[in-house]
Amino acid sequence: MQNTYQNRQWFYVKRPDGRVSNDHYELRESELDGSLATNEVILRARFISVDPYIRIQQHERNTYDVPHPLGIVQRAGVVGEVVASASPLYQVGDWVSAYSGWQLYARCHHSELTRLDPSAAPVSTALGVLGMPGRTAWFGLTEAGRPRPGDTLLVSGAAGAVGSLVAQFGKRAGCRVIGIAGGAEKCKFLTETLKLDGAIDYRAHKTHEALSAAVQNATGGVDIYFDNVGGPITDAVIPLIKRRARIIICGAISQYDGGLDTPDLGPRFLQHMLFQRATIQGILARDYVNRMDEMLAVVAPWVKSGEIVFQETYVDGFEQLPDALNSLFEGKNIGKLLVRV
Ligand SMILES: NC(=O)c1ccc[n+]([C@@H]2O[C@H](COP(=O)([O-])OP(=O)(O)OC[C@H]3O[C@@H](n4cnc5c(N)ncnc54)[C@H](OP(=O)(O)O)[C@@H]3O)[C@@H](O)[C@H]2O)c1
Repeated sequence: MQNTYQNRQWFYVKRPDGRVSNDHYELRESELDGSLATNEVILRARFISVDPYIRIQQHERNTYDVPHPLGIVQRAGVVGEVVASASPLYQVGDWVSAYSGWQLYARCHHSELTRLDPSAAPVSTALGVLGMPGRTAWFGLTEAGRPRPGDTLLVSGAAGAVGSLVAQFGKRAGCRVIGIAGGAEKCKFLTETLKLDGAIDYRAHKTHEALSAAVQNATGGVDIYFDNVGGPITDAVIPLIKRRARIIICGAISQYDGGLDTPDLGPRFLQHMLFQRATIQGILARDYVNRMDEMLAVVAPWVKSGEIVFQETYVDGFEQLPDALNSLFEGKNIGKLLVRV
C-alpha cells in the first residue's frame, strides 16, 4: 500500500463581497498520510462539482446554512475512485461519490461514501441527473409544482443542471414547457435538443416591459413557474401567473453576488399572489435526501434508456476550480458543470 499521496487542495480563505474568484481561494500542496484506520478508505477525486449554492454559503449571514467557515477546504460533492481501503465494504478501484470537497485525495470513513455502478450510468451523473440537481428538479417539480397535463410550465435557468431536468420532467408530466435562458445557443438547446415548446432568450429583452411581453407571448400565462434565477426575470414573470399558479423558488442566482447580503430587490409584484390565489414555495434538495431512492427508481431508467437528456459541461484541471465556479455566474455551462481532475 502506498504510504503517502501528493495532495492538492483549494482552501476557502476570503469572503467575497461580489463575484467569487481565485482571490478567495488558496491552492495548497501537501502529503496525505496513507495510513488507514479500520473502515477508512483513500478516495482519489475524478469529477468535482461546482454549484451555485457554494456562493450562497459564502454570504456572511445564515441562510439555510451557517456561513462556510474560512480556512478550510472548499466543501463540494465529488465522484472518485477508491485507491486504498481498510473497509470490508470497498475495494481498490470501486467508484463512489462523497462530499469530500475540492481536494485530489481524501481520507474518508466508509459511512461517508455512496457506491456507484459504472455499468448502470456514467459515474459523473451522481453529481447531476442522478444526484443532488436531479433530486431538486424531481421533488421540486412533482411535489411543489404539482404538474397536471396541459399546464403551462415556465422554467428560468432552463439550460442549467436543475432547469434542464425540470423542463424534461415537466414534458413527461404532459405540461406545455417554456424555458428561459441566456443566448441563442441555449435557446436552440431547449427547443431542438430538449424539445421544449418554446424558449425565451432573456438577454435579448433588456427592459422589464420587453421581457414581460416576450414571456406573455411565449406562455399566454403561467400555471407553474420554476424559478432558478430570481431578480428581473422573476419580476417579469409574476404578473403573468394564472389562477392557482404554483411558484417554486429553487434558487435566485442573479442575487448571489452580494444581493443576498444587501438585497436591492424586495419581494415584488406579490399582489398577484392575491389576485390569482397562487402559492409560492421554497424547496431545498437536502429535505429530500432520505427519498433519493424514490427519485432514482423513476429517473435512472429514463437516463439508461436515453429518454432524458443529461448534458454535462466539463472544465479540465484541478487548478480551474475557482474559475469554473465563477463561470456559473457568466452562464458558460449547459447542463451540469463539472471539473475533471
Ligand atoms: N433549492 C435547492 O435545493 C437547489 C439545489 C440546486 C440548485 N439550486 C439553485 O438552482 C439554480 C440553478 O442551479 P444549477 O446547479 O442548476 O446551476 P446551473 O443552472 O447549471 O448554472 C447556473 C446558470 O444560471 C444562469 N445565470 C447566472 N447568472 C444569471 C443571472 N444574473 N440571471 C439569470 N440567469 C443567470 C446561467 O445561465 P444563463 O446563461 O441562462 O444565464 C448559468 O448557466 C441556482 O439558483 C441554484 O442555487 C437550488
